[in-house]
Amino acid sequence: MTAGDEVGVPPRDDVAAMEGYHSPQLEVDVRLNTNEAPEAPPAAFVARAAELVGAVRFNRYPDRAAGELRGRLGASHGVGVERVFCANGSNEVLQCLLLGYGGPGRSAALFEPTYALHRHLAATTGTAVRTGERDGDWAIDLAEWDRLLAEGRAAGRHDPAITFVCSPNNPTGRLEPADRLAAILETAPGLVVVDEAYGQFAPRSAIQLLGDHPRLVVVRTFSKTWSLAGLRLGYALAHPEVVAALEAVALPYHLDALKQAMGCLALEYEDEMVARVARLVTERRRLVDGLVAIGATVVPSDANFVLFSLPGGDGRALWKHLVDRSVLVRDVSSWPRLAGYLRVTVGTAGEDDAFLAAVADFAAMASRSA
Ligand SMILES: Cc1ncc(COP(=O)(O)O)c(C=O)c1O
Repeated sequence: MTAGDEVGVPPRDDVAAMEGYHSPQLEVDVRLNTNEAPEAPPAAFVARAAELVGAVRFNRYPDRAAGELRGRLGASHGVGVERVFCANGSNEVLQCLLLGYGGPGRSAALFEPTYALHRHLAATTGTAVRTGERDGDWAIDLAEWDRLLAEGRAAGRHDPAITFVCSPNNPTGRLEPADRLAAILETAPGLVVVDEAYGQFAPRSAIQLLGDHPRLVVVRTFSKTWSLAGLRLGYALAHPEVVAALEAVALPYHLDALKQAMGCLALEYEDEMVARVARLVTERRRLVDGLVAIGATVVPSDANFVLFSLPGGDGRALWKHLVDRSVLVRDVSSWPRLAGYLRVTVGTAGEDDAFLAAVADFAAMASRSA
């Protein structure tokens, strides 16, 4: 035992060097920083969800296989239960993929800038990272892919063991062009994990390709399009062998009974989800038009967020100005290649108007002082 209140035991060296994953939260009126849905799920869903609480047998462990939820999810995509893996948010799905297929002596490939958790989870699971660049349109650069493949070949037969394709990509919002994904699927020596957290906002999905590519894994979440970030439910569609490997590394009973029941219930409200997504896509156009009218550079988006910068490009100063106006967006301006850029989530019309007004008066102040 050590004296005082010090632990006296260091964590693993690589863990001690980690910064952790942070998405700063502040108390503000307009929260447009984490790509959540601005609308709550339907009132009828919430009412029936309350009834479910009374029906759960809390003294018993839940269905370990989450059979009903996986079956219903599979049916909604036209695949069998054996091709569906569920977890506590898509982040846990991604972690299980790295636990099952990454780890010491293995690598994961990714293309920056992209969702920071892919790199972070590689680090926490002891997986090496091979980093490629995107081209001028923020699509995966196939010359970079060839470079990573050559590096991998020199290291081992299935290296990289996992290739992450985030599509639509966070934080750029771009859907990966079909030819880039096809080229990666043809040549990848390991799993190709297409992270479709924003999939329903885009005109095309990789789900249709699953039948032709046994190494393809598509990951989705209830956090964005389903308005259920608080539920923490995500899933993968994959070959049954991959699903079995993911089940092997997941903790027993990791999906609680209430979540399983609520996930099944949510699927009954798919039409409402599709309608909400359509509303957000329309609102996205209005948000983009508003930003362009202010003189911003806007990256075309297939997601529920938009990456933008103002001429002169002091992203940090704009971010602070927005916080002063009680509007929170994601400051990505310190990320490689993203100097000057911020990422804003599509909100309600009122939230987006408050955001646009605050950006407009920053732009006006900047042009007066120029
Ligand atoms: C690309 C991407 N994947 C996965 C996630 C994680 O979502 P979940 O809430 O399902 O863990 C996010 C969340 O922001 C994301 O942007």
